[in-house]
Amino acid sequence: MYDLPAIRKDFPLLEEFIYLDNAATTQTPVPAVKAMEEYFYKYAANHGRGAHRLARMTTDKYEDARETVASFLNADVSGTVFTRNATESINMVAYGLKWHPKDHVIVSIVEHHSNLLPWLRLRDQGVEVTAVQADKEGVVDPKQIESSITNKTRLIAVNHVTNTFGSIQDIETITKKCHENGCQVLVDASQSAGHMPLDMKKVGADFLVTPGHKGLLGPQGTGILCLKDTDSIKPMYVGGGMVNYVSIESYQIEASPARFEAGTPNIPGVIGLGRAVEYVKDAGIENIEKHETTLAKKAASLLAEIPQVQVYGPENRAGVVSFDVEGINPHDVAIILDQTRKICVRSGYHCAMPALQNMGLKGTVRASFALYNTIEEVEALAEAVSNIAALVD
Ligand SMILES: Cc1ncc(COP(=O)(O)O)c(C=O)c1O
Repeated sequence: MYDLPAIRKDFPLLEEFIYLDNAATTQTPVPAVKAMEEYFYKYAANHGRGAHRLARMTTDKYEDARETVASFLNADVSGTVFTRNATESINMVAYGLKWHPKDHVIVSIVEHHSNLLPWLRLRDQGVEVTAVQADKEGVVDPKQIESSITNKTRLIAVNHVTNTFGSIQDIETITKKCHENGCQVLVDASQSAGHMPLDMKKVGADFLVTPGHKGLLGPQGTGILCLKDTDSIKPMYVGGGMVNYVSIESYQIEASPARFEAGTPNIPGVIGLGRAVEYVKDAGIENIEKHETTLAKKAASLLAEIPQVQVYGPENRAGVVSFDVEGINPHDVAIILDQTRKICVRSGYHCAMPALQNMGLKGTVRASFALYNTIEEVEALAEAVSNIAALVD
């Protein structure tokens, strides 16, 4: 059973705020914060490097978190790499693949900047980058991706769910078509992981990336990169913790995942993330998906009833609702919502300028939902927006 009151108790900040900026980052549940506290107070040490008991315990807990995350995403444990965020994960792939001039990469116009700039920068190496269009609801037609594939196309980098409108891509068809044409696929699951069932193998991703700090409810400073083939990229960073032999003449790099985690990682963050993923599992991913899409549907329909409000995105959306209020700058809407009702939403381009500019938009207000939000909060949002809209009459 989905016990919303019990869930809300694990997020004390919700007693004071209506937090609807979950597509940016989510709140972290008490058990995950406690797991981090336990690390700091009971066994803090470095990972993978010591023979003493604290180092062993730290390593065990860190590796337990890896197993939890890998099993949740149905990824191989050896291909599950902890990073700082989704941006770092994507950069690791863009850096780690071997590129040749005239290689071709396909992205979509509705990508977050983090799944755009690492590819656009490859133009410096002579790589060609094409951005395929999406429809006005932010959905990319797999056929359009397929028809953009040339004999030089190496990789398609595409989101699973857009952070702008909550548009859900037909990701399995996209990966299937790309593989049929011999291309690899990076799936940016930043807005789907922890919000809906997500299975790396079913999705068919060669690379799957997600932050730990959004739907997975982990702390900020955590991210994940799942690799189908751990030899497909070279490590971006070299240094301690990722080598098993070093001399001045040569060095030998460890197998994955250690080879991709040079230096001291975010140990407390990863341990907190592991516990947070357990929390998501306990709440039930199908329950979460149902709950969040119900909230988003309700929000979209209540907001659409306000004459001055335009709601963007598809009917069948994930837990993200983008809208604007005629005659009022989205940032002003967000400030008034905060100051009058302590409602926290995002405003602006949402780090997806080409996506919004492509639709002639200069920004929107975005309400995004997590497992702990309520229908009452959605109603409060709609009422507050309605009051703001009345200001321009
Ligand atoms: C779709 C998408 N991709 C990538 C990112 C970047 O995530 P991070 O800030 O963890 O690097 C975000 C963050 O909002 C996102 O929504």
